[in-house]
Amino acid sequence: MKNPFKFGTVVEGEFFTDREKELQMLAQTINSENHLVLISPRRFGKTSLVCKALKGLSRPVIMINLQSVTNTTELAALLLKRLFKLYPFEKLKHVMNHFRFIPTFSVNPMTEGIEISFQPGCDNNIVLEDVLTLIEKLGERNRFIVVLDEFQEIISLEKDLDKHLRSIMQMQRHVNYIFLGSQESMMEEIFEKKKSPFYHFGILMRLPKIPYEDFTRYLTERFTPLCPSLLEPTVQDILSFTSCHPYYTQQLAFQVWNMLERQEPEANIVQHAVEELTQLHDFDYERMWMAMNKTDRHILMLLTQKGKSPFNAQRGIPTSTVFSALKRLSRQGYVIKNESYEIDDPFFSRWIYNRSL
Ligand SMILES: Nc1ncnc2c1ncn2[C@@H]1O[C@H](COP(=O)(O)OP(=O)(O)O)[C@@H](O)[C@H]1O
Ligand SMILES: [Mg+2]
Repeated sequence: MKNPFKFGTVVEGEFFTDREKELQMLAQTINSENHLVLISPRRFGKTSLVCKALKGLSRPVIMINLQSVTNTTELAALLLKRLFKLYPFEKLKHVMNHFRFIPTFSVNPMTEGIEISFQPGCDNNIVLEDVLTLIEKLGERNRFIVVLDEFQEIISLEKDLDKHLRSIMQMQRHVNYIFLGSQESMMEEIFEKKKSPFYHFGILMRLPKIPYEDFTRYLTERFTPLCPSLLEPTVQDILSFTSCHPYYTQQLAFQVWNMLERQEPEANIVQHAVEELTQLHDFDYERMWMAMNKTDRHILMLLTQKGKSPFNAQRGIPTSTVFSALKRLSRQGYVIKNESYEIDDPFFSRWIYNRSL
């Protein structure tokens, strides 16, 4: 039997669950003249959700991950490359007559795909503006959808790129933008701060974890054939350990499923899977831990103890220090904020907890 769980890459089809409400909202937004901003911590399922919502639409779509470019010109070149995947060369050639800098095309002999670049010395902003104008032109007949994934990277790409982008985008009438971002505080700075050029530029949507009932149903269906006697507690144990985090739930379920297939005893199987996975990452966790300062380690240790708040004054650390450590740890992706602060990776949390025993 094939393992029915998947983690790490974009999920679709039988690996995708729930998100009905969010899919509906996405559909409504891209059918309107508005832009969408989708925020959640890493690995909550933003990219998967957007891919699912856009699949099968009869509209032109391009998707770019800003982590894969290092400057404005590369961003422009990548957008252009995506356009060449959507349209025949002949068609694009005719609508590119407004370009003030001519891009260079070459064929990559390894992939036989087209590589596009701009000569060094081109004006970055002009190059980007010309490409975005091309997208706007192409969208006149059929509204374009442009997805910019990991959009918070815009801030570190080039100074004032946000201002420049915004000034072009606000004039466009035939493009829906979808901005995805994993670093919540930075995304909030970009879209929620009054001074930011992108202030209230799109409809803001936060993607939560997958609801408990839905994940229960999803796991139960898949474990039924392999786990006849302890089905309910097994599913509960998985979700209680991962707190319904989409990625870590799939990862743990994957492991448990493999162990059940090997006919390991059902009793305490989740516990054993957790130990195996924590052990598996020991090397990485050790490295992460060694790179942290003492305060961060201390805060993380406190977070592993359920029900205890790191803000508790009796613990001897000033509130401002706790707060800045939590901010730093959130920015680095170690900590996420739900109702309270929690460690993002439950296996790392277990690893830290084990150290203190
Ligand atoms: N709707 C979903 N149903 C089931 N699992 C999901 C879902 N969304 C995300 N996941 C799990 O989370 C992982 C990360 O999803 P991804 O879309 O890459 O998140 P993000 O873009 O927010 O980092 C996936 O590989 C999958 O294991
Ligand atoms: Mg993603």
